[in-house]
Amino acid sequence: MAENSASREQWGSRIGLILAAAGNAIGIGNLLRFPGQAANNGGGAFMIPYFVSLLVFGIPMMWIAWTIGRYGGRYGHGTLPGQFDKMWRKPFAKYIGVIGLALPLIFCLYYTYIEAWCLGYSWFSLTGNYVDSPGRVVDLSVYLQEFLGDLPTHAYFPGLTAAFTFLLITLALNIFILYRGVAGGIELLAKIAMPLLVLFCIILSVRVFTLGQINGTVWDGLSFLYTPDFSRLGDPLVWMAAAGQIFFTLSIGFGSLECYASYLSDNDDIALTGLTTASANEFVEVIFGSMIAIPAAAVFFGADRVKEIAGSGTFNIGMISMPEILRSLPGVEFFGTIWFLLLFFAAFTSSVAVAQPVVAFFQDEAKLSRKTSAMLIGIFWLLGTIPVIWFKKYGVFDEMDFWAGTVGLVVCAAIEVILFAWIFGMGPSWEELHRGAEIKVPRVFYYVIKYVTPFALIGVLIGFFYSANLTPTPKINLAVTDRHTFTGEFVNQTGPQAAAEIDRLEAAVKAAVTETGRDLSAWAEIEFDGAGGRTVTTFQGDPALQRVFNQDQFARWLELKGFTYQQKRDGQAASAPISAKATLMFEVLNTGPFIWLARIIMIAFFIVFGVIVHAIWQARSAEAAQTGGTA
Ligand code: TRP
Repeated sequence: MAENSASREQWGSRIGLILAAAGNAIGIGNLLRFPGQAANNGGGAFMIPYFVSLLVFGIPMMWIAWTIGRYGGRYGHGTLPGQFDKMWRKPFAKYIGVIGLALPLIFCLYYTYIEAWCLGYSWFSLTGNYVDSPGRVVDLSVYLQEFLGDLPTHAYFPGLTAAFTFLLITLALNIFILYRGVAGGIELLAKIAMPLLVLFCIILSVRVFTLGQINGTVWDGLSFLYTPDFSRLGDPLVWMAAAGQIFFTLSIGFGSLECYASYLSDNDDIALTGLTTASANEFVEVIFGSMIAIPAAAVFFGADRVKEIAGSGTFNIGMISMPEILRSLPGVEFFGTIWFLLLFFAAFTSSVAVAQPVVAFFQDEAKLSRKTSAMLIGIFWLLGTIPVIWFKKYGVFDEMDFWAGTVGLVVCAAIEVILFAWIFGMGPSWEELHRGAEIKVPRVFYYVIKYVTPFALIGVLIGFFYSANLTPTPKINLAVTDRHTFTGEFVNQTGPQAAAEIDRLEAAVKAAVTETGRDLSAWAEIEFDGAGGRTVTTFQGDPALQRVFNQDQFARWLELKGFTYQQKRDGQAASAPISAKATLMFEVLNTGPFIWLARIIMIAFFIVFGVIVHAIWQARSAEAAQTGGTA
């Protein structure tokens, strides 16, 4: 028999499996993405669509994933190509299943990088690297951007060496766990990391809740999140964000939970395990995801600034505001380290989970040893991550996040629900879900899965494609070069009235970049008068840029953007303008070629896995024909 499931690995214990599954789901999504999305979508406005999405997409898709995975595992298939092949019984199904290899691998390329930032920041916390000292003021926003190579300046990091180093360590740790296997690696990691994760969450929540009142209270943060705002229910963007968050946080639509489920045996309960996984994830997300970062920001910066802080970038709450808060309290070496280690562990148990399908594929289908499989993914992973790091500022990272972490998983989930409900059929699927189950899933989910989930999914997909911007646009950067010599903060207070004029100015600059096909840059000298005003004294740069954007236009742009230096008061953000001088770097990046590079890498993964799947199944049917057996 070509398919031999007897030799496949198994989970060591039920508790181990549950911890591993929870570790799979609980990640950066719970502790950073959730508070960010919630704050960005109006706080309380987000929670209703969020819980509706949990019921319509989250929990049903959980059960679907576990069912598909255990069913395929019975025949020795840990990944979607083999699993779809068994359930769909059509030759093309295995090729559709390639999505369950390409997506997780693409996801790995940038997710591990975030994981590496967290490891890096725990080191920086431990060593007090981002704490202000005499003669060295650390602007945490610039600090983060320089660490990631997003800015042309080097006040805190000479280049990408630090980022690369932490990535290599992170990658090595991941490969090591995968190399040790399901029970000996992933399960063991979960048994250590998950309790630590909960412990760290508790320590940090207690710390935040004993902060008292500074510019606000923790209750301001919580009421911001949990006061429902029914007026935003009509906004489709809020619904899409909520659905996207549910998919992301529960690790749905990647083939990863399916792979974990494939290591179960036939009479293991998947109905209850699926529900437990979802509940554990939601507990950490809704409780701890909202008890640390947002309340801390509310205490420290005041409730009205939380939205603005979260809205200015995905990682700002976790990697700018949190360190800002922690470093101005005693014990940053301890609490800062714990905060970032918490994020690191959360990410670590997720990144091994998302890589495991690829390892399992090489083992199950190509019959390679675990060692070789782990090495192989290590190579893809390392090579694929280099452009993500190197060209992050050109948008490679965001492009992958959009296609894999936002759109791709919804596409994959849509395929799975159709397979489960309409191809394999609701009757057999429902029976399969309940085989060995200790609970009975309420009948209403039968109809939800059959009708509501597929249609709602298609709606979400249409929304995503509708909102996607497929033409790469140049990106504008502004950086202060003499960061160390001045003690102020750079704030940006764009008013909505200015938006149209800003767009017009920027459109000209972007057009110049597109036309010349290269990055354009300039530097400027600028003086702040201490009353909120500024004068540009010099503006010099690429002639192609200066033709469309001269000193006056640059000055106007700065004014519209409301750029000003503000005196920093002991760890607090708001304050009075001061007079100062600064040298600015202005650059406009030609992102097009790099966005296309990202797209080519992603497409290449689909093609490579498609070809491998094709070759394996060909070889298998040739073998079957020879021995006269049935494949
Ligand atoms: N759920 C993970 C988080 O919250 C991220 C994630 C999305 C993921 N899809 C996945 C992890 C697939 C593992 C496998 O951060």
